Amino acid sequence: MAESITITDNRTGQCLEIPIENGGVSAVAWQKLLPGIWFYDPGFVSTAAAESAITYLDGEAGILRYRGYPIEQLAEQSSYLEVAYLLLHGELPTKDQFEMWRQEITYHTFIHENVRKRFLEGFHYDAHPMGMLVSAVAALSTFYLDAKDIFDLEARNKQIIRLIAKMPTLAAATHRFSVGMPFVYPDNSLDFTSNFLSMMWKVAEPHFQADPFLSRALDILFILHADHEQNCSTTAMRVVGSSHADPYSACAAACAALYGPRHGGANEAVIRMLTSIGSMDEVDAFIAAVKAGETRLQGFGHRVYKTYDPRAKIIKRTADAVFEVTGKNPLLDIALKLEEVALSDDYFVSRHLYPNVDFYSGLIYQAMGFPLTMFPVLFAIARTSGWLAHWVELLDQDMKIARPRQLFIGSQERPYVPISER
Ligand code: CMC
Repeated sequence: MAESITITDNRTGQCLEIPIENGGVSAVAWQKLLPGIWFYDPGFVSTAAAESAITYLDGEAGILRYRGYPIEQLAEQSSYLEVAYLLLHGELPTKDQFEMWRQEITYHTFIHENVRKRFLEGFHYDAHPMGMLVSAVAALSTFYLDAKDIFDLEARNKQIIRLIAKMPTLAAATHRFSVGMPFVYPDNSLDFTSNFLSMMWKVAEPHFQADPFLSRALDILFILHADHEQNCSTTAMRVVGSSHADPYSACAAACAALYGPRHGGANEAVIRMLTSIGSMDEVDAFIAAVKAGETRLQGFGHRVYKTYDPRAKIIKRTADAVFEVTGKNPLLDIALKLEEVALSDDYFVSRHLYPNVDFYSGLIYQAMGFPLTMFPVLFAIARTSGWLAHWVELLDQDMKIARPRQLFIGSQERPYVPISER
């Protein structure tokens, strides 16, 4: 027998049976019985806003899968570009499909000269790279007039390829501008991640070849950050996408959502926290301050994971490989001690607070030489493929425009009082 729930309106005694489908019950069915009574769920803590076939996440068991493939296997055996294809197309590419995908992405890595010369260089000298990225992604919509043709599949695919391909170029450009270094053009003889590293770090050498271990480590981090179902930035992408805005504008909104310290800014916050703690001797005092509610343990806790974030486990292993090349990040010992103390403290255990993806990722980025301000930018490069996969999904599902209701708690009607009488 199919599972269901029955709700009773105690005012009228009327009952309604609603089937449980895919782990949820339809609020539309509920509406039939209770028009004008809304679900109150700020922060969408218990609301499923979409049916999605992209990413499966079990926060209790610590499971994360893209299109059915375990994140551990993808991180070990796949590449970011292949994962981007998987997220968008639902299947791993054949050899020929991958080669065509790789070529298309590589062909679109260049940005219009006006984006760099007139737009990016118009920012103040100390502009935050993420602020520049948010604006630059939105500005791209004005360069591609077919961006609005979102139901023309050829045009839609073109924007997807452009966005994935240009994101590393824009990201590196924001960094070069913020440190006063000349812009580096893409080197299309390099793979996706090595090309990004070349645009970041090339100085006077004719050809920049990143250390293959570091390039691979960053590629793994890109895989881990590529999607995470209905997170804050993906929700922003879906909400803006539901109005049928062009994908650059929707992506800019997603980037903006990622900017905040509760989301993509968390790894920057972790490094600031570790730096301010300063030494292993201060760890106990810091944990006491967290427990007293004076501050938060950055990089710990997650809305969905109530166990160790599976991405954090992979990142911890990747950190070891990176530190072999770069030397150990001196903040690592403080992080390890914090984790050890927190995981044996009832405050954190009882609230199911474990390290999340951001607890160790910042240490890797810092060891690789990325400034703190670039951390959310790196996240945005990777998450672009996930955002776009969700955008395509919602368009294909002909999703309604996102338009929640509210519970009004303000003043009832009252007469206007002229300013002279107030
Ligand atoms: N340090 C100390 N206490 C915490 C923390 C933390 N990092 N996170 C949650 N708590 C406590 C919180 O005070 C509350 O305690 P109480 O029940 O006594 O009031 C309880 O745990 C539940 O917390 P919440 O804020 O209601 O949980 P949430 O699901 O709304 O928030 C979170 C999730 C990620 C915003 C939060 O855990 C947090 O602020 N963590 C630190 C920032 C961080 O690492 N963010 C990155 C998230 S992963 C990357 C991404 O998805 O972008």
